[in-house]
Amino acid sequence: MRALASGGTDDPYPLYAELHRLGEAVPVTAPELPYAAAVFGYRAVDRILRDPAFEVHDAYRLEPMTPGWRDHAVLVTLMNSMMFSNGDRHGRMRGLFRKVFTPRRVQAMEPDIIRITGELLDRVAELGADGNEVDYMAEFAYLLPARVVGRLLGLPDEDIAWFRSQVDLINDWLDFRRKGFDVLEAADEAAIRITDYYLDLIAQRRASPQQDLISDLVQAGGHEVTDLELVGNLLVLFNASFSTTIHLFGNALPLLLQRPAVRRTPESMPAYVEEVLRFDTPAHVFIRVASADTELLGVPLREGELVAVLTGAANRDPRRFAAPDRFDPARVDNQPISFGAGAHYCLGAALARAEAQIALPMVLERFPHLALGSAAVRTDQLILRGYKSLPITVTDRVLVTAGGTADASE
Ligand code: HEM
Repeated sequence: MRALASGGTDDPYPLYAELHRLGEAVPVTAPELPYAAAVFGYRAVDRILRDPAFEVHDAYRLEPMTPGWRDHAVLVTLMNSMMFSNGDRHGRMRGLFRKVFTPRRVQAMEPDIIRITGELLDRVAELGADGNEVDYMAEFAYLLPARVVGRLLGLPDEDIAWFRSQVDLINDWLDFRRKGFDVLEAADEAAIRITDYYLDLIAQRRASPQQDLISDLVQAGGHEVTDLELVGNLLVLFNASFSTTIHLFGNALPLLLQRPAVRRTPESMPAYVEEVLRFDTPAHVFIRVASADTELLGVPLREGELVAVLTGAANRDPRRFAAPDRFDPARVDNQPISFGAGAHYCLGAALARAEAQIALPMVLERFPHLALGSAAVRTDQLILRGYKSLPITVTDRVLVTAGGTADASE
């Protein structure tokens, strides 16, 4: 576990393989790590995520650990969301979101996903027309999920870049190795700005509803959730949607480029997407708190102690997946645990899958000569594993004549 916290972000998979040799869970004794145990076996991860005795961090748990938490806007906002609530409160907020964020709504987003993908690919084609490298992460992998969730919520396109800058400040603080005061202060300021923005938008949508999720939430919600709970959940939804899906797109691309067969069979893309989710999932670590003195696969835990739940490791568990380190889209019964399980199962799993299944074939079709460019840069987080930048070229040759005419084919 110490190795994972310090240097395992580049390639955690050899460490996961070592962990699997130890069983399904281990006690964590490294004093610099806040966890009492780590669980990484597929079945054990599935079980702990479904077990109400293991809760997510919530206001009740935060109180004794951080008595001044109410002075921090970022903590107050997050604690107002379903992601940081348990039991009835969680059920109440999640129930409202499920009422309006339905499979039908995801299906209705498909034309938007196709349109936004097309627009972004036009831009990538333009940027890369003369053989220039284009950063796939900045120009596509981030923009697509951010614009899709923006569209879902009803945020104007021109506000998306601002939103991401604010959400990044909050994500920096959520990374367990960056808990400095300056990082917390920056996250607090971002949370205040986002809260003001959403309160304003909620008031506008209440006065004049549009065809978007915020309008539907306001109408369906009545008094079920307070405006500040709405803000907390919208923040978490926006954050959880693009900061993970960006890495699904990023992690998928190199894997797909190594497998040209997928270009010939675009109908197999859903199986490839599931295998990308298993093989190199965007989100690797989740935290649970023991709600009472208990025992986890032989590891004794006291009430309040933390467990690191390693979904990225569970996806490589040799007890669940034959030859887990082989990328094999033809796997039978391939059910990665990348979207979690139980009460907090990812609310946006269907949207993330739809985005990847629609957009990745469009990328490959549009650019038959797409290739990776100069060195990619990885994120230095493990919680969200992916690329910071992933340079690509989209033309097969660069023909810039002496007269300056570019003639490069996509
Ligand atoms: C590949 C992309 C994604 C991955 C890997 C992912 C992964 C996850 C996981 C593992 C959880 C459970 C966390 C836990 O148990 O503590 C979760 C929760 C959540 N996700 Fe996603 N997610 C993705 C995309 C999305 C999208 C597109 C949305 C929204 C549009 C979204 C919204 C949420 C929300 C709101 C929760 C909290 C649910 C709750 O606490 O009840 N996610 N996600």
